[in-house]
Amino acid sequence: MISDIKVNKPEPIEYVVGTETFKGTDLKQAIEVLESGSPVLIKGFYSNGLSLIKELHTHLNKKLPNKTFLEQRKYRVEFHKLSSLILIQIIGHKIAVKRSPSIGWLEKLYPENSDFLLPFTKVQGLNSSWQWFLNGITIPVLRNKLHPYYGTYFPTRFEHLELFDNWLKRYDGPKKSAIDVGVGSGVLSLQMVKHGFQKVFGTDTNPNAIVGLTEFMGDTKLSRKIELDFGNLFGKWKKQTELIVFNPPWLPKLHNLDSIDEAIYYDENLFPDFFSEAKERLLPEGKLVLIFSNLAQITNVTKDHPIEKELAEGGRFKLEKCFKKRVKTASSKTKRDQHWRATEEVELWVLTNK
Ligand SMILES: C[S@@+](CC[C@H](N)C(=O)[O-])C[C@H]1O[C@@H](n2cnc3c(N)ncnc32)[C@H](O)[C@@H]1O
Repeated sequence: MISDIKVNKPEPIEYVVGTETFKGTDLKQAIEVLESGSPVLIKGFYSNGLSLIKELHTHLNKKLPNKTFLEQRKYRVEFHKLSSLILIQIIGHKIAVKRSPSIGWLEKLYPENSDFLLPFTKVQGLNSSWQWFLNGITIPVLRNKLHPYYGTYFPTRFEHLELFDNWLKRYDGPKKSAIDVGVGSGVLSLQMVKHGFQKVFGTDTNPNAIVGLTEFMGDTKLSRKIELDFGNLFGKWKKQTELIVFNPPWLPKLHNLDSIDEAIYYDENLFPDFFSEAKERLLPEGKLVLIFSNLAQITNVTKDHPIEKELAEGGRFKLEKCFKKRVKTASSKTKRDQHWRATEEVELWVLTNK
């Protein structure tokens, strides 16, 4: 049952009488309280929270070097430790200070709890996610906007979706069913439905993706075309299909690093397990489509390419075609990364049974 799935959300904190407050005046004192390991409750205006966060950055920048990779990591850890002590109160599912944004997630994600505290930075995350959810995102290859649920991966660049769309346009095989491993906000499934697939079976290990997409589809026609399972890799879908697609995480998880996001980082078992299970579920004439990128290689994270490795050593699949597309240079916000962004390419791998 979908209602039994517990979504990921910021952990509510109970109010403790006597918690120090910050009303917008004594920044220095507030920082001292945080450094002593005690929480500070934002009072008065929402912008007081923003000022305290800003002050915390100024303070840490003076105290800690922030240049090398390791220094940056240390800085982030320290910032995370102290900023998670900056709290804000929620009363009646609303933020209890003046000029606060209105965030629908507070009601949706905490139906059983209307009064509690949250770290200010988590509230900022909830707020920006609510804006994406409310306004939706226009995806070039889809007719309707996407409304990504809290804590769910959604695409911000679209070259890989265009590659997949072009491939689907030319695909002339049967379209009875497909499997979408790691559906996220459902883009690839929606593309397959758009191109005439009668049934798509999706999975994800992120509960928010499953709950969010289920809610997005409601009881529209889509909900009869896309069926979801909260589970690892193929989840409960055992039947063979003519198409399997997977847009996996593109970067290897590095040991001892804070790479916990399962939409972005893969562990060493993900690809071997995926290919072995895919072999059992792909019809003899079926196609296995993977979306990938040279990101890990051009940033020198690894020389390994898990799909090339499977083709060379797996003995299960052979390459039909690999399409590549240059990714447009990212926004000026990421200027420092542009030397490698310039050579970034997304890849669409089409494999068939050996
Ligand atoms: C890069 S995102 C792609 C999402 C979506 N298919 C898209 O193309 O926008 C990868 C997704 O795979 C999911 N995922 C990661 N490991 C998984 C696993 N072992 N089984 C199922 N899903 C997984 C993540 O939670 C995430 O939603």
